[in-house]
Amino acid sequence: MITYNEQSRRFAIITENSSYFMCIDEDMRLRHLYYGERIENPDEVSFELPFIKGILKPGTHFPFKAEFITKEKTQFLEPCLFVEFDDGTRDCQLVYKSHTIEKTETGEKLSIVLCDRFYKFEVVLNYVLYNGLNLISKNTVIRNTGEKEVKLTKMKSGTMYPEWNRPMRLMHMAGRWGAEYQKKYMDLTQGKFTIDNTRGNCASHQHIPFFAIDEGDATETKGNVWYGLLHWSGDFKIDFELNYDNQLVVSAGVNDFDVCVTLKENEEFETPLFTMGFTDSGYEEMSRELYDYQYDYLLPEEKIKQEFPIIYNTWYPYELEVNEEKCLGFIEKAQYIGAELFVIDDGWFGRRKDLTDGLGDWWCDKDKFPNGLKPIADKCHSMGMKFGLWVEPEMVNKKSDLFKEHPEWVLSFPNRENTEIRNQCVLDLSRDDVLEFVWETVDKLISDYDLDYVKWDMNSYITETTVHTRDMRIKYIKNLYEVWRRMNEKYPHVLFENCAAGGSRADYGMAPYSDRINRSDNSDPVDVLKIHEGFSTYILPRLAGGAGNVATSPHHLNGRIVPLKYRAHLGMTGSMSVGINLLKASKEEIEEIKYYVEEYKKVRHIAQDAYLYRLSSVYTSNVAVWEYLKRDKKSALVFMFANGMNFRDSVPRVKLRGLSGDKLYKVTGEHYKIPETFMEAPKERYMHGDALMNFGIRIEPMGDYDSLVLRIDEVE
Ligand code: DGJ
Repeated sequence: MITYNEQSRRFAIITENSSYFMCIDEDMRLRHLYYGERIENPDEVSFELPFIKGILKPGTHFPFKAEFITKEKTQFLEPCLFVEFDDGTRDCQLVYKSHTIEKTETGEKLSIVLCDRFYKFEVVLNYVLYNGLNLISKNTVIRNTGEKEVKLTKMKSGTMYPEWNRPMRLMHMAGRWGAEYQKKYMDLTQGKFTIDNTRGNCASHQHIPFFAIDEGDATETKGNVWYGLLHWSGDFKIDFELNYDNQLVVSAGVNDFDVCVTLKENEEFETPLFTMGFTDSGYEEMSRELYDYQYDYLLPEEKIKQEFPIIYNTWYPYELEVNEEKCLGFIEKAQYIGAELFVIDDGWFGRRKDLTDGLGDWWCDKDKFPNGLKPIADKCHSMGMKFGLWVEPEMVNKKSDLFKEHPEWVLSFPNRENTEIRNQCVLDLSRDDVLEFVWETVDKLISDYDLDYVKWDMNSYITETTVHTRDMRIKYIKNLYEVWRRMNEKYPHVLFENCAAGGSRADYGMAPYSDRINRSDNSDPVDVLKIHEGFSTYILPRLAGGAGNVATSPHHLNGRIVPLKYRAHLGMTGSMSVGINLLKASKEEIEEIKYYVEEYKKVRHIAQDAYLYRLSSVYTSNVAVWEYLKRDKKSALVFMFANGMNFRDSVPRVKLRGLSGDKLYKVTGEHYKIPETFMEAPKERYMHGDALMNFGIRIEPMGDYDSLVLRIDEVE
């Protein structure tokens, strides 16, 4: 519910469990008042920060909680907006002008218009509420209403002010290629801490535009947590600034690094969404809320209801060395083990014998596929399987025909060599002709080969940029979204996987267009435990993709040997794909893979429509236990993965969450045995929700790399 009180000039955004208050002060500035646990009446909340008068001229205040921080007067905090007007003034004093509150199809929207005290310049702050959720999505429209040009060198989406004068602990995710989404916790002290990225074309492997703040004591199930996500897949910047009054302000938006946006008369700049939430019930509730948001609002409605097919992909078995014979051989084997979608990954196009050539030439390599790709597509379709292809349309190799035709399309500087990460150059997608080329390329491939799935990869950060424009970094990402929007609009039944050298685009900017996200190129089962826990903290587990998340063993990254059962169980926790070379696998191995694929198909409707509860976190325990509770709460799966076990460690009973205490449940699972020397657990038992949640189930992992899956179903 959004309200405005004319008398007290206070705005209130109230959800089931949170309140967000702002007010217009005596100088017509928009101040933030409160964000936290639900309070009904905004008039009962006072200004929090010391408010000292008398030292400075009237109308000048010590820093206050500006709802949208600009560089002005005594405001020394990191600004959301830095403007340079035509006469050289680099200062922006925003005051309230008007506002609207409207009901929308999905909730409510508040728009507050602020304008500069002198210059013809407006900033519109939008707040979107979603029915049934405790989230607020903010964004900002910055508009030049005057005749003269203005320059923007900082243009963030907005701020968040968690509780004042309390310990503030930050949780963010950091990492690198093959080690994405590693959760980090730190206590904030006076000063500024930033998570950001300047690699240009992705939110990055190194940082995720996501954070959570608690008061140092929150757990999975208890404590106040403020959290936020920026819907942006390029350079972003989130600053956490704890000032000398012990007030934390978080500001999030596109990065100000190497960017200048010029607005001519009547031009505007719209910032990405910044979605934030508050819960008093710990981190698990945060994830649950974000899952609801994705299921009900963010992701394509029809596709999210369907089960995602099991993939067999050529990357891990053959990398670039794909050809017609191997692919035709694979299809039958893939179908035999139960895969439903066959994907030719990198290597099928141009003169792609190695990584130095091919990118940009999106025609089929006749040396590898003398009859084109049609026989492969037709064979898949005739066998009832889907067919998909890998592309990397934002890139070009210098040896390609495309580079010879359009060297000017490559991002580069005069007098500088292109860095060529992975031997490739980045096309300047901020150009409209490149946007059209990229769109026509994928459009043609999808229709020519009747594709059911496209894996769109991106394997090089932006190094050299361009001298032609200073807003390339922003326009690039907006054009990227435009191609993905067109793909989704024209081909609503095609499945799209967003891949960026593993997971460098696992963010809410790309998520609305992505049916699957490559979580990581690292498929080692033990590493994946941490990677998946990070990923699924803010993204639905069903989106967790990758070329083969039922991995090979020994693993190619570290030589680790892990049983197939463990690898297959782990494959069930995301979007299953098989990365084992079926042409080389033994008969026994093939039969075992087939068995687990069949098992997964029996429970996929639960795993892909569930909340993930971290009953025992891999970050703090050598036994990870994850509960996948179906959204209707009538069934659940419990996955257990042991690693790093010592001294016959025994494990605390697994206490489930989210069930109905008075309902009876059937618990099945062949693996929840207590070692045979003691006693055999029954294959099936009945327990009420209260016992499952308060007493729990005893499990006894048999040392390293033991795993199990339990199924819990409400008995009608
Ligand atoms: C990186 C991706 O993450 C992999 O899955 C694979 O598609 C390779 N690129 C292909 O070059």
